[in-house]
Amino acid sequence: MLTTIAQVGQHVGQEVRMGCWLYNKRSSGKIQFLQLRDGSGFIQGVVVKAEVAEDVWEKASQLTQESSLYITGVVRADDRAPSGFELTVTGVEIIQIAQEYPISLKEHGVDFLMDHRHLWLRSPRQRAVMAVRSEVIRAMYEFFQENGFYKVDPPILTPTSAEGTTNLFHTKYFDEDAYLSQSGQLYMEAAAMALGRVYSFGPTFRAEKSKTRRHLIEFWMIEPEMAFVDHEENLRIQEAFVSHVVQSVLKNCARELKTLERDTTKLQNVTGTFPRISYDDAIKLLQEKGSEIKWGDDFGAPDETMIAEHYDKPVFITHYPTEIKAFYMKPHPERPEVVLCADMIAPEGYGEIIGGSQRIDDPELLEKRFAEHELSEDAYRWYLDLRKYGTVPHSGFGLGLERTIAWICGLDHVRETIPFPRMLNRLYP
Ligand code: 4AD
Repeated sequence: MLTTIAQVGQHVGQEVRMGCWLYNKRSSGKIQFLQLRDGSGFIQGVVVKAEVAEDVWEKASQLTQESSLYITGVVRADDRAPSGFELTVTGVEIIQIAQEYPISLKEHGVDFLMDHRHLWLRSPRQRAVMAVRSEVIRAMYEFFQENGFYKVDPPILTPTSAEGTTNLFHTKYFDEDAYLSQSGQLYMEAAAMALGRVYSFGPTFRAEKSKTRRHLIEFWMIEPEMAFVDHEENLRIQEAFVSHVVQSVLKNCARELKTLERDTTKLQNVTGTFPRISYDDAIKLLQEKGSEIKWGDDFGAPDETMIAEHYDKPVFITHYPTEIKAFYMKPHPERPEVVLCADMIAPEGYGEIIGGSQRIDDPELLEKRFAEHELSEDAYRWYLDLRKYGTVPHSGFGLGLERTIAWICGLDHVRETIPFPRMLNRLYP
């Protein structure tokens, strides 16, 4: 039976057989050191000429970078080895000697690496990011399943927009027009009225002509929606959720964070309550720092960074002007010029990771908003029905998976947080 590199610790002193690839090789003439990887981890295999059959030595000598093989060897605990174990090789079965591998172990430019994304994924750093991504998704599901939420899947092909009409991906739906989903939120509101607390997780499409380190054309969003939850409770759920995700990664991906050379001291702080600053105060803060921003402007990435610098945890910016936010957000009862919303800004300059709000529950106000935003009432009739048949206070939010991973992994750009990024000017591979 095959074992994996992640499991070798259970087999110290025993002979194991594993399927793997050669990552790198060093040789001293009498000993070959094979750096092997199998997806679950990396391990060094030591082939000693004097101790193995001649054909084993020969086969090991033929191995090129990324050649595939089955390896047999005895597991030894070794404190000096990064994985804590080493393999004394007893057998090599070659599956394929790889052709000259395009991604050598030297530095490559970003465009070259992006063109070879299908291979780049095999590198230790990229593997680590993907393992963190998997853990973030696992921890997200765990949080919601353990807190009484149901997973609901909204459609990807939609007849209308959820987040404004400027960045919709248009497609034909037989004779009708359709758009790729920008957000499942409106459907999740319907689901919350049926199941109470729900969450979705899926791809989201924004035809944004933005070429920044935070923008993808296709990204993944988790969208919880909760009946009988107001703005304040919405923020408490977000704090608990983000803390659970970060603490799970710290606990279960220590090895990956080390590979990524992530300084985890700030991540350790991500527990308990998060600081809050109102939009009004955030504007004042920026003005004090010399910014020319005025009340009513939206924040750009540098503004968010300047605000987040004041905190060592994620910070909520609350109560944005009604004018600059989506049509469905509930106005503040005493100050209708602002809405009951919050964006969560990650520390260390990673920007907004969550957008959320309490939703309008009054049918008349919602109809008024349709008119103001020039949205066709016909198209949104079903959404208005939710306010006619037992409307309740309700709230929800959307967390962008890739921005969250960029923050947790300490990456400069979201392109490395998704297996095959879709960006302005990139649809390959
Ligand atoms: O603030 P947004 O647009 O909110 C919504 O779509 C709401 N309907 C969510 C809800 O309340 N159910 O997007 C939410 C998050 C942002 O905070 C950001 O993390 C991420 O989605 N995001 C992007 N991530 C990568 N590339 C893009 N182009 C993104 N646009 C938004």
